[in-house]
Amino acid sequence: MEKSDYIAVFDSGVGGISVLRHLLQAMPRERFLYYGDSANAPYGSRPTEEVRALTLAAIRRIRAEAPIKALVVACNTATATAITDLREAYPELIVIGIEPALKVAADHFPGGRIGVMATEVTLREEKFDILLHRFDAGCTIAKIPAPGLVPLIEQGKVDDAETITLLHRLLDPYRGKLDALVLGCTHFPFAAKAISQVLGEDVALLEGGGGTARETRRRLAEADLLYDGPGEIRIRNSSPDPELIRLSYERLNQGR
Ligand code: DGL
Repeated sequence: MEKSDYIAVFDSGVGGISVLRHLLQAMPRERFLYYGDSANAPYGSRPTEEVRALTLAAIRRIRAEAPIKALVVACNTATATAITDLREAYPELIVIGIEPALKVAADHFPGGRIGVMATEVTLREEKFDILLHRFDAGCTIAKIPAPGLVPLIEQGKVDDAETITLLHRLLDPYRGKLDALVLGCTHFPFAAKAISQVLGEDVALLEGGGGTARETRRRLAEADLLYDGPGEIRIRNSSPDPELIRLSYERLNQGR
């Protein structure tokens, strides 16, 4: 394994770009290979077995594309279903997953009222239950599934009327009842402005990308695999629609 090998970043679509932004901030001199599986998105309403199979197939495609030293699963849904299988399948790789930032929420709002908005798959998996029970003694935690939101964000509709209407349907029951909302799906940070508009500006929105980036850097440093440049960003997508690549770069550049 070489220091110059890529850090692969995987998501079901364009959502993981919100994590790539944090990774780039933490490690601007690394070589990143981003792969979005938009042809098969959304993952979040599919049966668990299907998500697992799609994730494993996508990672095989990434491995065929370039040499990689680390794999960041920048998708809460894929992490919840497939992270154990990935660690077993690729023991030679540093494999990092993402999980809803409940710890950050509980640390900042002890005894607080916290919502976790995520896909149906993430919220029903055992991994989430384990996370929930680490914090639900101190805080009141509401699970908020958000079917329909990912396809809109995949189309770039982050604050269109259609998106605002859906957000009202999902979040109006929680208005005035939350201190923080955990964005437990990597697509959702792109709609943060609309979410705040619907839920109220005083509700803190928390995402897991920063923690994932710090952990990736820590693991690479520990293995003496940090690269000193020149950095590179390669973005690939399973969909033949060039709009998804354009949208990915646009979202990435908005964060820099
Ligand atoms: N971005 C993914 C996540 O973090 C899910 C999107 C999907 O449903 O495909 O959970």
